[in-house]
This record gives sequence, structure tokens and C-alpha cells, in this order.
Amino acid sequence: MRIITPTAVLRDWRLADATVLAQYADNPRVAACMRDGFPSPYTLENAIEFISFATTQSRQLLLAIEVDGEAVGGIGVSPLDDVYARTGEIGYWLGEPWWGRGIVTDAVRAVVPIAFSEMGLVRLEAGVFSNNPASMQVLEHTGFVREAVHRRAITKHGQLLDEVIYARLNPDSCRAPGRPSDPTRERDPGMR
Ligand SMILES: CC(C)(COP(=O)(O)OP(=O)(O)OC[C@H]1O[C@@H](n2cnc3c(N)ncnc32)[C@H](O)[C@@H]1OP(=O)(O)O)[C@@H](O)C(=O)NCCC(=O)NCCS
Repeated sequence: MRIITPTAVLRDWRLADATVLAQYADNPRVAACMRDGFPSPYTLENAIEFISFATTQSRQLLLAIEVDGEAVGGIGVSPLDDVYARTGEIGYWLGEPWWGRGIVTDAVRAVVPIAFSEMGLVRLEAGVFSNNPASMQVLEHTGFVREAVHRRAITKHGQLLDEVIYARLNPDSCRAPGRPSDPTRERDPGMR
């Protein structure tokens, strides 16, 4: 897959990305905002292991964020299990030198329609640590709705944090069968 956004190219991971991936992912300021499954320190072996996984699985959408020819971040959508199978979790990170240029906002905007139309998801959600306003801004700019605060749900590096839940619904899932739109249903304020 290859998607061109106004600020980056989103594409499949390649083994050749491993060195650059390890270089930019090995940053405590990135890891501090991620779940503990994101290694810190992030070694070349971690990068090779991740890319090997990303290039051999098909359930999740896992794309590199390429800027100036280098894979300097990642964005992914992972469907949940069981009764949540049509909910996907969206996650992303970007190398620190590229923060604040609108790159991830553009990437989320590009990935949402794929998650809905090609992955068949009806709901996309993200759980953001309460000390990460930049990620909340990304989600608010891309039509996600702040739904809930899970109080003290997170322990990161020994610090207790709230988790802020953002979600966006597939507009097609809000229409009753046979009707183009159903005014009796509440409209998701995130839909545009
Ligand atoms: C969060 C992250 C993905 C944002 O990527 P990015 O490409 O820099 O984001 P964008 O430039 O598209 O948008 C960031 C927005 O947050 C704002 N922002 C940045 N720091 C902020 C802060 N401390 N407080 C409030 N807003 C902030 C920016 O101004 C921008 O909003 P604007 O467009 O209205 O100016 C990136 O900082 C990152 O990788 N962080 C570490 C990993 C991470 O947090 N992953 C997400 C886990 S939920």
C-alpha cells in the first residue's frame, strides 16, 4: 500500500527501514507516550523484529510514515477481538525532528477511510495518556470525539495517568438499512 499525503508518504514497511526505524524510535520522549510494548531502548533487533512482523501479517494495517525518503514514524490500525471485532485501535508515532508539521494529522486523515472501507471497521478508537496534548490535538483535528476519561487507568514509568478515549464512527454504520440517513439517530459529532 502507498498513500501520498500533503506531508508524507504512508507505505508498507521494508527490512531496509530497520536502521532508520531504530534511530528515531529509540527516543524516551516517544516511548513515554506509548504502551510498554513499544521498546525503550529501541534496538536494531527490535526494529528488525517489528518489520518482520509487519511484513508477514495481514490482520492489522501497519504503515511506515516516510518523509524525505526515510521511514521516520509509523501508523497502524488494529482490529480488536471477540464482540469488539469491528472496532479498531489507531496508533501512531513520529520521530521527534518532524513533530509539529502536521504530518501525523495528515496521516490519520488518510488512514481513517481505509479502516472503514477496506477493513470493514465501524469504529476507530484511541486511548491517549492524559499528559499528551499533541496526540489529542491530532485526533480532534481529524474528527475524533472525546468520549471518556478512564481515571488512573495508566501506569507509565511509575506515574499514574488518566487515559482519554477518543473515537470516530464510520458514517455508513449510522444509517438505517434502506434509508440514506436516519434523522432519529444521533449524529456522531465527529463525522464530516
Ligand atoms: C503525538 C504525535 C504523534 C503528533 O505528531 P505530529 O505530526 O507532531 O502532530 P501534528 O503536527 O499533526 O499535530 C500536533 C498538534 O498538537 C499541537 N501540540 C503539540 N504540542 C502540544 C502541547 N504541548 N500542547 C498542546 N498542543 C500541542 C500542535 O500545535 C498541533 O496542533 P495544531 O495543528 O493545532 O497546531 C508526535 O508528537 C509523537 O510521535 N509523539 C510521541 C508518540 C505519541 O504520542 N504517539 C501517540 C500515542 S496516543
